[in-house]
Amino acid sequence: MLPVPQFIQIHQARAEHIRQELLQGLQAECPSIAPKYLYDELGSKLFEAITCIPEYYPTRTEAAIFKEHSQAMAQQVPPGAVLIDLGAGNCEKAARLFNVFHPSRYVAVDISVEFLKGALECLQRQFPSLHMAGVGLDFSEQLQLPAELKLPADLPRVMFYPGSSIGNFTPQAALAFLKQVHHACGHGAGSGLVIGVDLVKSKAVLEAAYDDALGVTAAFNRNMLLHFNRLAGTNFKLADWKHIGLYNTELNRIEMHLEAVRHVVVQWDGGQRRFAEGERMHTENSYKWTLAGFEQLLAQAGFAKSTAYTDPLQQFAVFWAQA
Ligand code: AVJ
Repeated sequence: MLPVPQFIQIHQARAEHIRQELLQGLQAECPSIAPKYLYDELGSKLFEAITCIPEYYPTRTEAAIFKEHSQAMAQQVPPGAVLIDLGAGNCEKAARLFNVFHPSRYVAVDISVEFLKGALECLQRQFPSLHMAGVGLDFSEQLQLPAELKLPADLPRVMFYPGSSIGNFTPQAALAFLKQVHHACGHGAGSGLVIGVDLVKSKAVLEAAYDDALGVTAAFNRNMLLHFNRLAGTNFKLADWKHIGLYNTELNRIEMHLEAVRHVVVQWDGGQRRFAEGERMHTENSYKWTLAGFEQLLAQAGFAKSTAYTDPLQQFAVFWAQA
């Protein structure tokens, strides 16, 4: 009989808590919306579309790096490990590595276990002998794998964090997060981290990737307002807001903002906020790293040594960091 994946959901924020958090960000002196609110059902589809647009190089470049170098990585990644996929989504990137890294177990982690169910049940049929589990957990707050997983303490753990999602963290928060990842590697010999990192490059290439000609990134960013309205009961109108995607050269980060195109009053049950024409809400940071800078960050987080794999243009890097 086909094994059934194990599913575990760790606490989910309550609707009222989410509403308060959103309204607090909206009313702040420098208003902001956390990037996790980009990903409602439509937002997740728009992000998938972004990964296919010509100017957005990260997804296809990372895939090319894996294609070119995963055999070399497999020399370092221990076989029979627990592969722990942080932000697994449709589990597609990790699944491409099953026949290269030969894990004995696969743990897919995403914010909601609901996103994982379909994908894992489908994968279980393709890989009947791989032990699979899905965990619903917001690891951006705290990365604590549930004890119910009963992971054997002596098995090596390979943490997998592709896609340059680390870019959403400030350098300071990235360090704190990587320390937690290092800790979660446990004590198994050979444990480590496979992580995708977007690299510093020209402002023109970066800004095109985050403000594409088709307007898909603009739709992705502006869709956040529809999500916000549903979660917080506000009355944002799409026509009042335009997408801004710019590269901040001092801070090495792409910033996404939503800018009011006229004077706007946003209202909700119990309050309102005015925006002057040209005023912005900050919706995402996407930090870019140098190879040396990220290698240093991994060392500071406690990783013993790291190897970087890149594409010929050095647009993107995949690091193997030994715990
Ligand atoms: C999913 C955070 C890696 O920063 O490139 C894409 C999100 N935002 N286009 C990125 C994103 C706008 C993406 N990450």
